[in-house]
Amino acid sequence: MSERETIVVIGSGVVGLSTALCIQQHLKPSQSVLLVARDFPSDTSVNYASPWAGGHYRPEPGSSPQALREAKQAQRTYEFFKRIAADEPAAGIQFLQGVEHLEAPPPEYLDRQSVRNVYSHLDGFRYLSSDEMPDGVKWGVEYRTYVVNSPVYCAHMLRKFILKGGNTKRYTLAHSKEAFSLAANVRTVVNCSGLGFEDPKSFIIRGQTCLVRNPVSATITRQNTDGSWSFSIPRPLDGGTVIGGTKQPHDWDPNPSPATRSQLLANASKWFPFTPESEGKFDVIQDIVGRRPAREGGMRLEVEKLGNGKQIVHSYGAGGRGFELSRGVAEDTAALMLENGLLREKAVL
Ligand SMILES: Cc1cc2nc3c(=O)[nH]c(=O)nc-3n(C[C@H](O)[C@H](O)[C@H](O)COP(=O)(O)OP(=O)(O)OC[C@H]3O[C@@H](n4cnc5c(N)ncnc54)[C@H](O)[C@@H]3O)c2cc1C
Ligand SMILES: *[C@@H]1O[C@H](CO)[C@@H](O)[C@H](O)[C@H]1NC(C)=O
Ligand SMILES: *[C@@H]1O[C@H](CO)[C@@H](O)[C@H](O)[C@H]1NC(C)=O
Repeated sequence: MSERETIVVIGSGVVGLSTALCIQQHLKPSQSVLLVARDFPSDTSVNYASPWAGGHYRPEPGSSPQALREAKQAQRTYEFFKRIAADEPAAGIQFLQGVEHLEAPPPEYLDRQSVRNVYSHLDGFRYLSSDEMPDGVKWGVEYRTYVVNSPVYCAHMLRKFILKGGNTKRYTLAHSKEAFSLAANVRTVVNCSGLGFEDPKSFIIRGQTCLVRNPVSATITRQNTDGSWSFSIPRPLDGGTVIGGTKQPHDWDPNPSPATRSQLLANASKWFPFTPESEGKFDVIQDIVGRRPAREGGMRLEVEKLGNGKQIVHSYGAGGRGFELSRGVAEDTAALMLENGLLREKAVL
């Protein structure tokens, strides 16, 4: 006799939703998925990172285990997003030109091999020659990348999840063990809670950006001499353009700073090719403050066995790269569950 089993996925951000969709493809006939979260797409809480993401893909060179693992996850997500952009226009993912201009490139950018490791899979990747780069820029590349309308993509995934028979429950967990009593016969809980609160390695990186109506045709990233980053990220489906942005570890201020907004816009008008109709002025939709759920050493992706056939599969701490890594992380999590016999081998599409 096979008893019905509920797999509980905690978290309805880009990581939880991507993971729930991957798990659905590998369910045994006796299993179903319940997505439990405090926040769902269309909610706007400062502690819910996903809707605030600018949402572009920009590789990050490096040779640490974390950098290498992320590079693989990012590459698989890139291939996956190509298919989604072509097959599901309502998902809010669009491919376009990506440009990077660095004023003070760190050592990992000057090492051609470490650059090749993370950039060479990108369509149309090439270095810019010095006469193609603006004043002050020492390192530049261009390639084909994607931008994501982050709230739209999350809502799209939630809809797919429900259409495929997934259930949802709005609930705030006060303790990790609680997840096992949210449905009958829960053996596996998948923890995509973003930041969580009990892991001493977890921390936030505050990001302030400004969403404007002015259109721009490419996603451009400029690293300033002081190490700060400026970027323009058009949001597909007429979502405006995200101008960013700050990276402030451990800064819990939930309010946008007007001074930061002026600087972001002033920098953007100098460096990014807004259409002539903009005339150097910005039509602001909204200031954005979000908290990237970061973790020392990168994401925690592992199975924690609790005994009695119960386990928690952890997948949180994506930091500033949750969208870029999303599909790769979801596939790695499903693979981990397969290895542990928690899902069925053969995918159903
Ligand atoms: C300004 C800014 C710009 C960004 N730009 C980019 C970018 O260009 N590219 C990119 O890839 N990423 C970007 N990011 C990062 C990206 O937003 C995050 O990496 C990503 O959203 C993390 O997703 P997540 O699902 O792990 O967490 P979240 O989206 O925070 O979701 C966590 C989920 O867990 C739930 N949860 C948490 N605790 C509990 C609890 N106790 N009980 C029940 N539910 C709970 C929450 O309600 C939520 O549903 C940016 C972030 C910011 C702030
Ligand atoms: C999920 O991870 C977070 C740490 O980010 C932790 O606070 C929480 O207790 C975990 N939840 C479960 C069900 O283990
Ligand atoms: C704007 O650019 C200057 C460098 O010209 C830099 O010092 C500053 O940090 C940038 N501001 C923001 C908010 O990105």
